[in-house]
Amino acid sequence: MERTYPQLCQPITLGRVTFRNRMFGAPLGATDITPDFSLGPRSQGFYELRAKGGAANVTVSELVVHPDTDASHMLHIGLATPGQLASFTYVADAISRHGAVPSIELSHSGQYAGTYLLDKNKKAALNQWGPSDGVRPDGLPVKALSGEQIAEIVAAYGEAAGLAKRAGFGMCLVHAGHGWLLNQFLSPWFNKRTDEYGGALENRLRIVREVLGSVRAAVGPGFPIELRMSGAELFDGGYDLAEGCRIAAGLEDLVDMLHISAGSYQFGFSVTHPPMFVEHGSNVYLAAEIKKHVSVPVATIGGLSDPAQMEQIIASGQADVVYMGRGLLADPELPNKVMANRGEECIRCLRCFVCMAERPVTQTRRCAINPRVGREHETMYIGPAARSRKVLVAGGGIAGMVAACTAADRGHQVLLCEATGELGGILRSEQGIPFKRDMFLLGESYARQLAAKGVEVRLATAVDAALVESEGAEALIVAVGSDALVPPLPGIDGGNVIIVNELYRFAEKVGQRVVVLGGGLSGCECALHLRMEGRDVTLVELRDELAPDANIRNRPILLAELEAQAVQVELGLTGVAVQPDGLLARNAAGQERLLPADTVICAVGQKSRSATVDALRAAAPWVRIIGDALRPATITKAVYEGYYAALDI
Ligand SMILES: Cc1cc2nc3c(=O)[nH]c(=O)nc-3n(C[C@H](O)[C@H](O)[C@H](O)COP(=O)(O)O)c2cc1C
Repeated sequence: MERTYPQLCQPITLGRVTFRNRMFGAPLGATDITPDFSLGPRSQGFYELRAKGGAANVTVSELVVHPDTDASHMLHIGLATPGQLASFTYVADAISRHGAVPSIELSHSGQYAGTYLLDKNKKAALNQWGPSDGVRPDGLPVKALSGEQIAEIVAAYGEAAGLAKRAGFGMCLVHAGHGWLLNQFLSPWFNKRTDEYGGALENRLRIVREVLGSVRAAVGPGFPIELRMSGAELFDGGYDLAEGCRIAAGLEDLVDMLHISAGSYQFGFSVTHPPMFVEHGSNVYLAAEIKKHVSVPVATIGGLSDPAQMEQIIASGQADVVYMGRGLLADPELPNKVMANRGEECIRCLRCFVCMAERPVTQTRRCAINPRVGREHETMYIGPAARSRKVLVAGGGIAGMVAACTAADRGHQVLLCEATGELGGILRSEQGIPFKRDMFLLGESYARQLAAKGVEVRLATAVDAALVESEGAEALIVAVGSDALVPPLPGIDGGNVIIVNELYRFAEKVGQRVVVLGGGLSGCECALHLRMEGRDVTLVELRDELAPDANIRNRPILLAELEAQAVQVELGLTGVAVQPDGLLARNAAGQERLLPADTVICAVGQKSRSATVDALRAAAPWVRIIGDALRPATITKAVYEGYYAALDI
């Protein structure tokens, strides 16, 4: 079969193992980890779904090899306690039964080990272990590992690798990047040792070489070992790409593949996990340069999910393998789609960080656009509905489209009616903001899927009870969305006011000086975009903080962008009136002042279309209200409710 993306679909052999394509599944921490460091039952599904979706390998992470000196995260996995092997075996088995190679990431976080002790006294007495004595930014002392401790850690890598192999893992990833222990030894910034593990590059490489030797001794020849490293540390004082090339060249004889990531968590999370504000593939240049200096295969990673771009990376010789983390969470079926020449059906990760933000908040995982993440086994084998029903979906925004597609997949006869002339709902507004283009494309992608799945779509058709009855709908999904909240200020209906969701339609009307009224996520993103276009932007928020509705990983990155772009922020101000020359605003003390502007953007939130919802509550034997129509919130909630509503029919 002739393939649209022949490079991505080409097998690759590492050691004695042949991988079915070049699309590899990056290490992603599991969804439920038990308090004894085992993989919980949901984690099996978490990894399995990506294997079933066609990835060549799926990497289970982050196995802490030496718990005596490391506790990577509050929830991490380990094999140091006897009796833990079973959960690892089930996971390795669940990955390999779908044709993917299960890989395990072996890790030690060194001086950045977590300190999740509730006992404050114990915590105060803690110290962390790193290459050199020092103090962490949070004040915890760091002690240099002794030679004996290093030897123990090196041995522990081998023990963990041997056990993982016994559990059925077919590959090991040794983590020496992102600022963790082995990276700390490689880095002149962290490593101030004067013994054989510090100083000259040869010495800084030593522990990594010993670890790789220990792992090889445990797993034997032919078993693929890859090394994850940062091509450059990308902070002042860290090693640069030239040194990254020397490190790679100094280690390649011990590995089957080099996996080139970037940066250091502690000095720039957004380098390691490129956010929506940077180009897709912003770290590829690191792998491309390193590839010129080594002869083993090189993998790249970071913000990749577009098959055409990934094909080009391999075709142009920048890398041999592409790893995806968030890309495969968003669309686990991406490799299968690429292999079957259905690349246009791939759904692209939004880089919104819901996946990472959920863990610290609820100790689980979610994805904004893949409602199955963390719930994979509940949904893995759902087949057609017992009886095909007539389903009417009112509303063609993201919630309605997800519901319609899911219902159609289950064999229902689906009619989707959209009151306006276009599908996509609020996602249409994202086309005006380049860094949110993937969100707009998500809507486009679902619109195409509706057609492919045989959903009948009627545009410019508002749904009322009479229509539901005349169509004979047995199930009605109400996804009629929300309207923008518009505060009743004098002048708000003036020609100098644009509602944030309409910005894409009136972009040419925006003047040089802009006031954005409302500092929630949507207002912040709009302000940032207009500032990036070179306008003078003032962002006005009533509360004392910006974007409290942004998730905890995305928010700091967004705030840093606003600061970097010098968006002027006014907190604690409420809008009083829109005037031809700007926004009159008032502070808590009652003082008023004019914020000069040619254009005022109104971004104060959304309200459900409750009158429409109420009129439909009893319109069919089975009714479900979803998305913004139920309660305006996130895309995550809309997608989730759309998917699960359709599974209930
Ligand atoms: C939810 C999530 C969990 C992650 N867990 C790990 C981990 O346990 N170990 C690790 O080395 N990297 C981890 N990463 C980093 C990814 O492996 C990857 O380097 C990063 O997400 C950038 O790739 P991407 O843009 O394809 O997502 C994680 C990333 C995400 C999004």
